[in-house]
Amino acid sequence: MLLGTQRINAQGHLEIGGCDTVALAREFGTPLYVMDEALLRANCRAYKRAFADRYPENDIIYAGKAFLCTAMCALLAEEEMCLDVASAGELHTALMAGFPPERIFMHGNNKSRAELEMALDARVHRIIVDNELELEMLIALAKERDRQVDVLFRITPGIDPHTHARIRTGQVDTKFGFEVPNGQAARVIERAIAHPNLNVRGIHFHVGSQLLDLEAHRQAIEIAVELLAQFREDIGYVAEELDIGGGLGIRYLSSHEPPSIASYADVVVGTLDRCLKEHNLPRPRLLQEPGRSIVGEAGTTLYTIGPVKEIPGVRTYVVVDGGLSDNPRPALYDAVYEVLVANKANQPADLTVTVAGKHCETDTLFQDVRVARPEPGDILAVQSTGAYNYAMASNYNRFTHPMVVLVHNGQADVIVERQTLEDLVRHDVMPARLARPK
Ligand SMILES: Cc1ncc(COP(=O)(O)O)c(C=O)c1O
Repeated sequence: MLLGTQRINAQGHLEIGGCDTVALAREFGTPLYVMDEALLRANCRAYKRAFADRYPENDIIYAGKAFLCTAMCALLAEEEMCLDVASAGELHTALMAGFPPERIFMHGNNKSRAELEMALDARVHRIIVDNELELEMLIALAKERDRQVDVLFRITPGIDPHTHARIRTGQVDTKFGFEVPNGQAARVIERAIAHPNLNVRGIHFHVGSQLLDLEAHRQAIEIAVELLAQFREDIGYVAEELDIGGGLGIRYLSSHEPPSIASYADVVVGTLDRCLKEHNLPRPRLLQEPGRSIVGEAGTTLYTIGPVKEIPGVRTYVVVDGGLSDNPRPALYDAVYEVLVANKANQPADLTVTVAGKHCETDTLFQDVRVARPEPGDILAVQSTGAYNYAMASNYNRFTHPMVVLVHNGQADVIVERQTLEDLVRHDVMPARLARPK
């Protein structure tokens, strides 16, 4: 499987954005996250085009949790995307990059007072209210500022999408949002609509992530529109906006066949229009928050292969110079990936190996993958690591966070520096009574 601008060059090396990955590894070191700018931009544009044609009153809001840094914010601003942030850190990143606050949507299921203040003071476009505690806090802060705040309410439609349990969020048994099935959502939202400091623009849901079929979105849209119809019946309120979250899956393996953005748009718009017609409701502004499907396939991780340990009759371990700390998804979600030896990309992948990391535990990364015969010093490329890899990186074992480079037309720009050993001790504090002479 070759994704985006990936191709195999005359040296038999994997190339991305016109850059030889073996040369990138040599120049910048490994582990290295490589982001394919052309694919990133193409995905933003594919979303915009698909919905502009079918439902012009819409916004595409990139979900920053998937991958965020200041250069990414700048690229999103150039593509005229909106941005979903879910913490003070993500909001700060966006503001530092000069991303327009009037295109920022503030999420979070336990927003602190400080986060809400930051969002209000930055004048973000929408705050998505998740629970009653937050609602009370927000009202108090809005009153203090004598302001009316534009909000959406996160609802949980009570459906069970087909994906890993830890990225399922639309079911009744979830920490997120206001429940539709037991009437909580209607009760709270109807009260909020009457509040003078709130401007309730509509509702939001996010059913889950890495969805390879569109059934969950279809069901959730049906439930959300029923709720909107109920608001109109009960209190004459007609919502202006419906935010359907993110969740569209991507190709981690060549056997994965996620729906295209265009067929996703067909289902979303087809279902929404049918439901609106059934209830005789006008079209609300359609908002959505794709993360993984914008950046996932645009990212490739490069590692240097260390020991290759063959256990006859059992398996062959290929150990790389990263692991759990730069990609926790295999451990968290049993996530699977496709790999190739970047400097032997034109050789047959005829050996089955298990790739492991260098952490102090059994951090198996990729089990039973087929590769060209690996040797110490080879470069291993892991595909589709653009989403929830750098974003989820940790300093476990005091590993430094890898660097991120953005590649385009043969040019590689560093967009996140590699952490240094000095960074690792920067926040350590030595009490005087423990200090030792150096
Ligand atoms: C509220 C919300 N919106 C959008 C997303 C992005 O989802 P995805 O990356 O699957 O598109 C998430 C992911 O967790 C989310 O929680």
